[in-house]
Amino acid sequence: MNQQQRTRVVAAGRPHEPNSPVNPPVDFTSTYRYRPSVESAQVYAREGIPSFEPLERLLAELEGGAHGLLFSSGQAAISAMMSQLPLGGHLIIPQHAYMGFSSMATQLADKGLFSLHRVEIANTEQVLACVEQVAAEASGAGTGAMLWIESPTNPMLEVADMPVLIAEANRLGVRTAVDNTFATPLRQNPLRAGADVVVHSVTKFLSGHSDVVMGAVITSDEELHAALHDHRSLHGTIPGPMEVFLALRGVRTLAVRLDAAERNAGYLASRLSELVGQPNSPLSGVSYPGLPDHPQHERAAAQLSGFGAIITLVTQDQAMADAVLEELQVWTPATSLGGVESLAERRRRHPGEPATVPEGLIRLSVGIEDPEDLYADLLGALRATAQVA
Ligand SMILES: Cc1ncc(COP(=O)(O)O)c(C=O)c1O
Repeated sequence: MNQQQRTRVVAAGRPHEPNSPVNPPVDFTSTYRYRPSVESAQVYAREGIPSFEPLERLLAELEGGAHGLLFSSGQAAISAMMSQLPLGGHLIIPQHAYMGFSSMATQLADKGLFSLHRVEIANTEQVLACVEQVAAEASGAGTGAMLWIESPTNPMLEVADMPVLIAEANRLGVRTAVDNTFATPLRQNPLRAGADVVVHSVTKFLSGHSDVVMGAVITSDEELHAALHDHRSLHGTIPGPMEVFLALRGVRTLAVRLDAAERNAGYLASRLSELVGQPNSPLSGVSYPGLPDHPQHERAAAQLSGFGAIITLVTQDQAMADAVLEELQVWTPATSLGGVESLAERRRRHPGEPATVPEGLIRLSVGIEDPEDLYADLLGALRATAQVA
């Protein structure tokens, strides 16, 4: 049966046999009993346990892929994917991709494992020129070159022209991987646009309660899936069973959480953007793909079935951003995103964040609280800061 996404998040990955529990059981074990005369279905938890499968199947169904594979974190999933590049390969990444990912790519490239190419992912011409150059250098690229797309990017919220980039990379034999953490499988499905791989930080919207660290890779490429599974077993990057339980429980409410958070984000983005340009306003910019003045608003509207729950505010400088964060009562100043609670963070507090991200930029991860409370808290903090500044 071809189910709608909202049904899938609730229904997929449940046991169907008579007398089975409604929720799949979770094995809290590191190893499995065997009998020499019987072939072993399970051996050791580092190779994966049946408790991973319901969530892996659910994520694969949501993204429209054949296989899902859980990892101990989003970074572990990314690392497994990066390791698929052969020595001397080429990796193209967005200039403003998630900084942990960017730092990992930089470290590995500095060791001479592959050549790293940074592009402005929203600049289609620039990305295509780089893909062409890399394809020519990797001649008959095969798996020797990979285009990594993050869209919207973290934290600059740039939106890539995903269908065009993927089609051209496919034509030239360059592998495409998409970090779909911000959009979630409910807002865009890169595999359906022809991407080879989708990666998630399950830590964020999918699990949704800021109590789990987990990652996932989804692909329909059998050989790649087998290689990633092998990588996970050998590197030991499996999630714990409690995390799998929590993430599966969290993802069941993804559709309602995301709807509510996105509604709040749309409301806040438009209210906050009214403050930009007012006399003595502490805000010099508000970025949200749903705002008509976002540089890729039309592209986002065509590509995404919702604009997401992340907003960025630009204040004058570090001091002003920090002062705003000190004043907040309802919002929690913290890193990460995608939970039911609203978080705010000055991104440049991390040394790994590129200098092209403004010092005064605050990333908001909008939760599901009452929107008026969220707005009033931000407005109060901004006003208090403007008077101080
Ligand atoms: C877009 C994106 N991808 C990947 C990651 C890494 O995920 P994790 O923190 O689960 O390792 C993050 C974390 O913030 C992220 O924002």
